[in-house]
Amino acid sequence: MALTAVKGFNDILPDESGRWHYIEQTARRVFERNGFGEIRVPVMEKTELFCRSIGDATDIVEKEMYTFIDKGENSVTLRPEGTAGVMRAFIEHKMYAQDPVSKLYYLGPMFRYERPQKGRYRQFHQIGAELTGAHDPLADAQVLNMLVSFFNEIGLTEPSLQINSLGCPECRPAYRAALRSFLEERIAHLCEDCKRRFATNPLRTLDCKVPGCVEATAGAPSVLEHLCSGCDEHFTTVRRYLDLSQTRYDINSRMVRGLDYYTRTTFEMVTGLLGSQSAVAAGGRYDGLISQLGGPAIPGIGFAMGLERVALLLGGQEFCSFPDLFIATMGVGERDVAFRLMAGLLKSGVRVEMDYEGKSLKSQMRRADKLKSRYCVVIGENEVLSGKASFKRMADGFQADAALTVAGIQSLVGTSEQ
Ligand code: HAM
Repeated sequence: MALTAVKGFNDILPDESGRWHYIEQTARRVFERNGFGEIRVPVMEKTELFCRSIGDATDIVEKEMYTFIDKGENSVTLRPEGTAGVMRAFIEHKMYAQDPVSKLYYLGPMFRYERPQKGRYRQFHQIGAELTGAHDPLADAQVLNMLVSFFNEIGLTEPSLQINSLGCPECRPAYRAALRSFLEERIAHLCEDCKRRFATNPLRTLDCKVPGCVEATAGAPSVLEHLCSGCDEHFTTVRRYLDLSQTRYDINSRMVRGLDYYTRTTFEMVTGLLGSQSAVAAGGRYDGLISQLGGPAIPGIGFAMGLERVALLLGGQEFCSFPDLFIATMGVGERDVAFRLMAGLLKSGVRVEMDYEGKSLKSQMRRADKLKSRYCVVIGENEVLSGKASFKRMADGFQADAALTVAGIQSLVGTSEQ
């Protein structure tokens, strides 16, 4: 039996990868314009890093991590998200000593043992950004504006921004207590997971999609009514900055996040087009994380988007790139001329294709069509003798002669290469 990929792990084939390049290039352009530089960290870290950052009582750490013992008896984990590893590197390399404010972005595969479905995979890809060193709500607004700009520039208007504040270690315990006392009478109606969450992580019950839990938590106290004055003022100022920059958002006080490190502002870009996988991007502020991981008391805020989900939203648009020119040949003798031209044109940045197998002219023309080449030329004995040939623009049939030299062909055909 032929071998297949591991369940929930996908291949990205060439006709799909054009869309991925477009997403990655747009993100790089928008992020770098905002002063973010790329950081590349390993896909595997010590397990303890994720337990200490994401939190022991989260679904990710409890149920979804790819953890194993390596040959040196160390417990290691394939990263389920990017923030923890980036902050580990930030502390390890004392990046805060170079610049008080640091802006980093990253992209790559993440791994979670979830039940695969459309928009949810076991290996998936994130593009994320992290800004550290700024307490000011202005930093929250800049990060949010950058995320919204990415979606605008990529041509997606549908995912909309939802924001919330989860308070801080000062005000959250009182909210947690208020929520617990609300849930106490309703505990019998909660699902088994939420019964457990009631004790360990009651805020997560607000996020549960099970109908009984949605009903039982309707009317639960709002976190926004339990913020301390510092958190309240922070959230009000973030909103003021968003209004100043004309960024549209909705407040969703039931939005809680699946990772424990968040403080104050949290947010999601949500869509109605991907079924239950409604978050295309998500993030928030994590003012305690860096010190929790052994670094100095430096605040941070960031987000990550799911590349597969962005790709699904972009839908069937065409992102492949096509050859500039297909060189067809009449006979075997002309293949030397064609190959020499192809080699020269490729070096000058023109995308050229020719036939490799000595196929008939008809079959070569079919291939030129299939590859959607912009131009096509047929080289026979006459063309070799005269040193020029007629080039056909496939879209409209326009024909023009050009010398059979790299410079001659390039000046007619141009190049689609950026
Ligand atoms: P997260 O909400 O766990 O946050 O994931 C961020 C995004 O990754 C989600 O909104 C979704 O688009 C995508 N995603 C998550 N799991 C899957 C999956 N199984 N399959 C496909 N896509 C998925 C974080 O990971 C935080 N590190 C974000 C952050 C950065 N917060 C601050 N900085």
